[in-house]
Order: sequence, then structure tokens, then C-alpha cells
Amino acid sequence: MVSKAVLPVAGLGTRFLPVTKSVPKELLPVVDTPALQLLIEECARCALDDVLLVTAMGKSSMEDHFDRRLDLEAELAAKGKDAELAAVRDLAGLARIHSTRQGEALGLGHAVLQAKAHVGVDESFAVLLGDDIVDPGSDFLQRMIAVHERTGRPVVALLEVQPEQASMYGIATVEPGEQPGEHLISGLVEKPDPADAPSNLAVIGRYVLPGTIFSVLEDLPPGRGGEIQLTDALEHLAADEPIVGLTLDVPRFDTGDRLGYLQANVELALRRADLAPALVPWLRELLHRIDDGDLDVAGPADA
Ligand code: G1P
Repeated sequence: MVSKAVLPVAGLGTRFLPVTKSVPKELLPVVDTPALQLLIEECARCALDDVLLVTAMGKSSMEDHFDRRLDLEAELAAKGKDAELAAVRDLAGLARIHSTRQGEALGLGHAVLQAKAHVGVDESFAVLLGDDIVDPGSDFLQRMIAVHERTGRPVVALLEVQPEQASMYGIATVEPGEQPGEHLISGLVEKPDPADAPSNLAVIGRYVLPGTIFSVLEDLPPGRGGEIQLTDALEHLAADEPIVGLTLDVPRFDTGDRLGYLQANVELALRRADLAPALVPWLRELLHRIDDGDLDVAGPADA
């Protein structure tokens, strides 16, 4: 049974400067909910009740977010704000949250390796990357865990990307899998030049991994960008036995990218009954103003 999740959250978030000078990028809100909370809610839906944050200096507010905050709770209770009180108090019950430090930013594989002592080498575990928000409410990670339990193999999420985007992702060499939506991965390459990409199937930030990956990571030389790459460790595992790639069939937002972050905010706000009725007419009006040339927009509006 998979019960532990590892969340590498040590990054400096330089793409979101200046805000990330003082706020961890994982706490930037998607509408009103930190991206990290969406991830931990996803863990809770999958019965991953033990979460390890692999974090870094200056980011301890991430742990505070999931702690009790008794002064705030007392204030909300006194004012009869029951819904807000429940939202604040329930956070602490989502999962048992632990943390460890990465120390040096030596790559995603190095971050995952920091979980070895906590997870142990005999247990399988999930890895969730904070830049990838998988449709909140979906059971996709749960299905990945079920595939792992059925096959005993490592499982990664795969997404079809444009050929020119290959250099942003780990790219898989695949054959058809046993079930619809499944691929058997016989090789992986981290961020290849598009001309060298073995397919247009990219690994996105959900993994279900065996504890044996830690010994592979320990022996791994630096890869792409001089970093210890999780993709390279998976490539080693795939050399022995195929990995399963499960095609993502629910929306996903790349919140590591400013445009993806904005899109996540708009699309997820449109799903909210408290926001959509006012947001939709405002968006329509905004588009009309753009079309009419009444709004100062940088660059061509139809670019
Ligand atoms: C990481 C992984 C890459 C994967 C990507 C998914 O890259 O190294 O293999 O495809 O996440 O989002 P990063 O985006 O952290 O550079």
C-alpha cells in the first residue's frame, strides 16, 4: 500500500520574482488556495496521509500553513465565521506533514533522494511536483497508484506535448501498454533537443516509485544541467523492466510558468459558483474592449 508522498519544494521560484523573494512560490494562491494546499488535498484524496516536504532555507511558512493557528481560530469562532473556521482548522488534519532540507540545489533526483531516510527502501511512494496542478478533484493520482499496485512497476504521468516543447520535459520512449491509456516506457531522456526526442510524450509531475530508486539515485552521476536528474534514475529502472506511463486525461496547469499560473487562476475561478457569475460577464466585456481597441494591450491581441 502506498501511503507516503514526497513533495520537492526547495526551489527559489526565480520565474516568479519579485514575489518569491519573500513568499515561497508553492504558497502563491490559485484563486484563494495555495498551490501546495491543492497538492496536499490531492494526497489526502489518495490516502497518502504521510507527506514529506523537501524544502529549503527561508520557506518554513509552507509548514506553518498546515499547522493550527489558535488565535485566528478563536477570532473566527467569536465572530461566528464557521465556514472560514472549518477551512482553517481542517488544514491541519489533511495529512501528517514532515519536512527535510535539501541543503544544496543539486537537482530533482537529489531532492527525492533526501526522502530516503523517511520513506525507507522497501516502500513505494508518490512524488508530486508543485508546478503541475492536476485538475483539483480528479482521481488521476489514485489511478496511478492502482496501476502500480496491479503491475508492481514504477508509474509516471504522461502528456502529449508539441514537438518543440520536448526540451522542457523528460521525454519517454514508449510501446503500447496493457490497458487503455497505458504505455510501457523502455527509455527516458531529460529535456532533449526536439530533433532528438524519442516521442512527444512528456513526463509531468506525478510519479509512483519503488524504494529501490534511492540506491539508483545515490550512484547517479550529474546529468542535464549538471544536476542529479530523477529522469536518469527512471531510465536506469526502465533498462531492467518497463515503467508504466499513464496518459493524463484530465486538465493540468503548469503553474511554474506565469502564463500557466494565470490560466489556472481564471479557469479554476470559472468553476466557482461564488465567482463565475460575475467573472464571466467581466471577461466578455474585457474581450470586447480588446477587440474594439479600447484596452491597452501589449503586442497584437490575436498573437
Ligand atoms: C521536471 C523533470 C522533468 C519533468 C517536469 C514535469 O522538470 O525534471 O523530467 O518532465 O519536471 O513538469 P522541471 O520542470 O522541474 O525543470
